[in-house]
Amino acid sequence: VGGYSALRERLHRLITWPAERPDAYARLGIAPPGGALLLGPPGNGKTLLAHAAATASGCTVLSAKGPALFGEYVGDTEAAIRELFRQARECAPSLVVIDEIDTLGARRGGDAGGGEGEGEGGTAVARRALSALLNELDGLSGRAGVFLLGCTSQPEALDAALLRPGRLDELLLVGHPDEADRRAILAVHCARLRLDADVDLAALARRTCRFSCAALSALCREAAVAMLGRGFGGTTHRAACVEGEGEGEGEGEGEGEGEDESGEGGGLDDAMAAEVGEFCVAAADFESALEVICAAQVLPAGAHEELTKRYDVFLQERRRP
Ligand SMILES: Nc1ncnc2c1ncn2[C@@H]1O[C@H](COP(=O)(O)OP(=O)(O)OP(=O)(O)O)[C@@H](O)[C@H]1O
Ligand SMILES: [Mg+2]
Repeated sequence: VGGYSALRERLHRLITWPAERPDAYARLGIAPPGGALLLGPPGNGKTLLAHAAATASGCTVLSAKGPALFGEYVGDTEAAIRELFRQARECAPSLVVIDEIDTLGARRGGDAGGGEGEGEGGTAVARRALSALLNELDGLSGRAGVFLLGCTSQPEALDAALLRPGRLDELLLVGHPDEADRRAILAVHCARLRLDADVDLAALARRTCRFSCAALSALCREAAVAMLGRGFGGTTHRAACVEGEGEGEGEGEGEGEGEDESGEGGGLDDAMAAEVGEFCVAAADFESALEVICAAQVLPAGAHEELTKRYDVFLQERRRP
């Protein structure tokens, strides 16, 4: 995980303090927070941050994806939600991470199915899922040491009841990365690459202003692929290489990337794999990658602004009841 240090710090406090010092809250007579919602445009690391915070907290972590909790039969979904929280209470202090929580906590009435085009049945299931979720959250009000962390890129779809105090009362915006974040994220994703001396990650960070975190990750990957293309064409130069500029923050990240890489090198023999390890990603590789990723994954200025505004508006409306 790169960048987003303020947000990560806030998440850490939110989760770790109540878990470590429940007595302090009890003495002050204040209820520890019941949960938080990470919201923001797709691909900016909500899922990643939630899981990083969860792991770092030392709590028992139970994680689920909204859509995966939907069962095949009537009642399955509620049962899955109840079971999730039962386990969470049993091994408290614990943290329940529900990714894509909008699918469970969809607004009652209206067409809660959203763009999914689900019929009446789908809506009814969603409604029951929501009340099961609300029930569980209220059941925690003695604060059983369970914290719920939800993630969504569709906060408007959530039922207001889910956002009431004592439930998901902290709303944390995971927006697009700023320049410093982008610099850190590029470093994370380049940690396992050898970079040519002409690669300037700071300049790349300046030039990628509408990139999401996912687009930055794709950029690094694409640059590496461009390098391989040159390499197997026989023109990769191995001189003037500097070691990948890893700033070491994100070990987990590096591993994920590594899997990608070895997937690519899967068919190569050892000598060839060693050779690939010697290849250097050059500034020119990033240039061609920029073209590809800009066209495929980056919104034009107007659409980008509109997307960003959507979350700001949501937050403003929530803060002014
Ligand atoms: N802080 C970060 N540091 C490094 N890489 C990141 C960071 N945030 C996101 N990424 C990269 O972007 C990818 C997408 O992130 P993630 O799936 O967490 O986004 P999301 O906000 O949950 O998106 P969605 O709303 O679509 O679920 C990750 O797999 C990772 O490669
Ligand atoms: Mg996600």
